[in-house]
Amino acid sequence: MALAWWQRAVFYQIYPRSFADTNGDGIGDLDGVTAHLDYLSALGIDAIWLNPINPSPLWDWGYDVSDYCGIHPDLGDLAAFERLLAEAHRRGIRIIVDLVPNHSSDQHPWFVESRASRTNPKRDWYIWVAGGPERPPSNWQSSFGGGAWKYDTATASWYLHMFLEQQPDLNYRNPEVVEAMHDVIRFWLDRGADGFRIDVIAGLIKDDQLRDNPIRAAADPDIPWYAAGTQDPLYSHDRPEVHDIVRGFRRVSDAYKERILVGETWPREQERLADYLRPDELQLAFNFRFCLARYDASRFRAAIDLTQKTFGPGAWPTWTLSNHDFPRHITRYARGGDGEARARVAAMMLFALRGTPFIYYGEEIGMRDAKVPAHHKRDPVGRDGCRSPMQWSDAPNGGFSTNEKTWLPCGEFEAVNVARQMSDPQSMLALYRQLIQLRKSTPALIEGSYRAFEGAPDDCLVFHRDTEQQHIVVALNFTAEDREIDFPAGRILLGTSPDRTGSVKSPLMLAPNEGVIVTLDG
Ligand code: GLC
Repeated sequence: MALAWWQRAVFYQIYPRSFADTNGDGIGDLDGVTAHLDYLSALGIDAIWLNPINPSPLWDWGYDVSDYCGIHPDLGDLAAFERLLAEAHRRGIRIIVDLVPNHSSDQHPWFVESRASRTNPKRDWYIWVAGGPERPPSNWQSSFGGGAWKYDTATASWYLHMFLEQQPDLNYRNPEVVEAMHDVIRFWLDRGADGFRIDVIAGLIKDDQLRDNPIRAAADPDIPWYAAGTQDPLYSHDRPEVHDIVRGFRRVSDAYKERILVGETWPREQERLADYLRPDELQLAFNFRFCLARYDASRFRAAIDLTQKTFGPGAWPTWTLSNHDFPRHITRYARGGDGEARARVAAMMLFALRGTPFIYYGEEIGMRDAKVPAHHKRDPVGRDGCRSPMQWSDAPNGGFSTNEKTWLPCGEFEAVNVARQMSDPQSMLALYRQLIQLRKSTPALIEGSYRAFEGAPDDCLVFHRDTEQQHIVVALNFTAEDREIDFPAGRILLGTSPDRTGSVKSPLMLAPNEGVIVTLDG
């Protein structure tokens, strides 16, 4: 079956406050994204995901929405959004926006009304439990730490907030809320948005009896904060009823042509990720076990194998290495070795796997997390480092803004920037461009089947990508030592080190942290 556009596409995530500032206020804006579309086009990007652009008091930097159908004035206005869409579409680039349906801002008129009295018509739009202040209704923990219930003295009731107390959870057991969110979806699709990345999608429905969550007996090897003794969100997350809500969103989006829903999915058990990827649910869903895996072939292999095993024929994988919530992968990898070399190997993996790759802005130049001194801290839970301004050049503020002050401090733009890498064939940017170009011109890398390569050392990741006409092997050495692999004869299409070209014969020798994409003879 012919693949859909979102199966062939390379996505690029943009944190709009940090991409490019066109009005000199030190904050990136939508016109800044429009101004750099040619750069993205030359990189080979097919679609952009914009982090939240809606009005917000910014307690959680836009994930606390106070108007679902507007644009935050720092970023522009609806006209700027429409300009961006038109210019992107003119270049064949699609745009998906962030939808944050699980919670609104406490400043959203819905919540202002809801908290006004126990009898307000919007009372039941949020999750309220009446009672005394001594004991919250359940033991649920906020993802940002501390209890998830806030006591409201005025109405002698608790409300639920799975994130900050400024982010009350909406009540999806109330059909009016479901309908209101459907209207939001229509609002953006009517304007021409190509779909949504949906925040906290698995959390939209909670247990109807608000039962206490159990405690994890064992730590999880991939997710550092899933330590033994922490709470397992059995009753507050990934409830079976959530799939009805997802189906409702999909019905709305399917009334439009070629739109997509991408989920921020944290299933309680990774095996359940595929449950969200059904013909009447999401098209794509992030795989955080892969994203957060440490730089270790066996951890990535585990995430890939589990995907292979649990994804039926209708489910299509998504691969990412970084996003706005975690230290950038190059920064994480640098803690145990050569960050740059490791990030090159990881990039080759990202574009050679079967599934849709998402790049996080700046990853293509190997941008590191910026150091953010305590007095510049913006995010309540310490995610500023990976959200620093895009490094365009070695001009002041890396060419991001002409303002002396930027909303977050810049990283090391003198050393790492787009302008410098543009003309350097050894640069990370050159590698990203080549990988994307190779992917686009090599059907096996997009449509081909995936199969592990037998007989490779465990600390390397080696796999086949095959169509009837093309036989590709991708060999990635995740170690700091040479590795030897018994290998069929072939020709190197691309290596992580630019001088690696020509034919290969068995055994294939890989240098430390080296990767190659090989087309087999015959
Ligand atoms: C998601 C977002 C994160 C946000 C949280 C609450 O995890 O990616 O940035 O803080 O949801 O909306």
